[in-house]
Amino acid sequence: MSLPKFVVKTVVADRLPELLKCMPKAELHIHIEGSLEPELIFALAKRNGVALPFASVEELRRAYAFSNLQSFLDIYYAGASVLIKEQDFYDMTRAYLLRAAQDNVVHAELFFDPQTHTARGISMDTVINGIYRACVDAKVELGISASLILCFLRHLSEEDAFETLEQALPYRDKLIGVGLDSGELGNPPEKFARVFARCRALGFHLVAHAGEEGPPAYVWTALDLLKVERVDHGVQSSKDAALMRRLAGDRIALTVCPLSNLKLCVFPTLADHNLRTLLEAGLVATVNSDDPAYFGGYMNETFTQTFAAIGLTTQHAYTLAHNSFEASFIDASAKQRHVDRLNETFETFH
Ligand code: HPA
Ligand code: ZN
Repeated sequence: MSLPKFVVKTVVADRLPELLKCMPKAELHIHIEGSLEPELIFALAKRNGVALPFASVEELRRAYAFSNLQSFLDIYYAGASVLIKEQDFYDMTRAYLLRAAQDNVVHAELFFDPQTHTARGISMDTVINGIYRACVDAKVELGISASLILCFLRHLSEEDAFETLEQALPYRDKLIGVGLDSGELGNPPEKFARVFARCRALGFHLVAHAGEEGPPAYVWTALDLLKVERVDHGVQSSKDAALMRRLAGDRIALTVCPLSNLKLCVFPTLADHNLRTLLEAGLVATVNSDDPAYFGGYMNETFTQTFAAIGLTTQHAYTLAHNSFEASFIDASAKQRHVDRLNETFETFH
């Protein structure tokens, strides 16, 4: 896809939040289990008779004070324990897609963590069918497209990942790709080189979390050994000039999640976030919510808080929305339709 040639008229600063909201965009980094709001966690716990170690929604929300990735993951996996039936996975996904559509997300690529569920005795069938059915319904009812990326948990073994892949193969046509998430430090991409090679041979799109807390070396190995097409987070790449040149030169997108990075203490404040540096180095950076129920914002909130904190402009808004379509795994004609709508939005916005 060609670089944005579109001439952007600058919008006065106080109208920028409105433009950020109404511009069509894709979300490429959202863990569907991270969209489980405390209210839905409690409702599902009640429906399924699951005991929670929190007395109320408020008490659970108060526990959302994280010091790093692992402190978040512990509570995130506990929250996912209320998902038992296919309808639970449907309801969670439906709630996210409704919320995303309000923020003019027109396409979403959803991560899900099957091992979190199969380890509790929930079948792959239950997980994939529930999430997938909500995506099919949302396309018809809300006009939002969504596809699924199966993530391997990197704190588990490669053997476990291979077994998960086997279990998922009967649902091959419901998945667009595979990814790698969970605790990054000590679990480098190379641990999963063979399972990613197999997924590549099977024709899956490949992505991986790298350079969230881990060093630039993990981004290099995600690129060179796993052969990923996008890097999730990747913000530590700015510490390595050669890596920045590689990412920009090959137009490898980074799915950046500023509110996540703030809540997990990757940057001390949002004003310290390096999104502007990444964009100005010519990287295909995108903005995403990661785990919106835990990090305090869906797409619109993420965009408006980030733009206010680091002083981004109308041009940055256009580039980020354009990048989200460029980096997506939708076909070329759908990409073009979304970019045409994006151009129309910027032309007619006054
Ligand atoms: N990083 C790694 N694993 C995750 C994340 C994340 O930000 N969110 C959910 N699983
Ligand atoms: Zn993530």
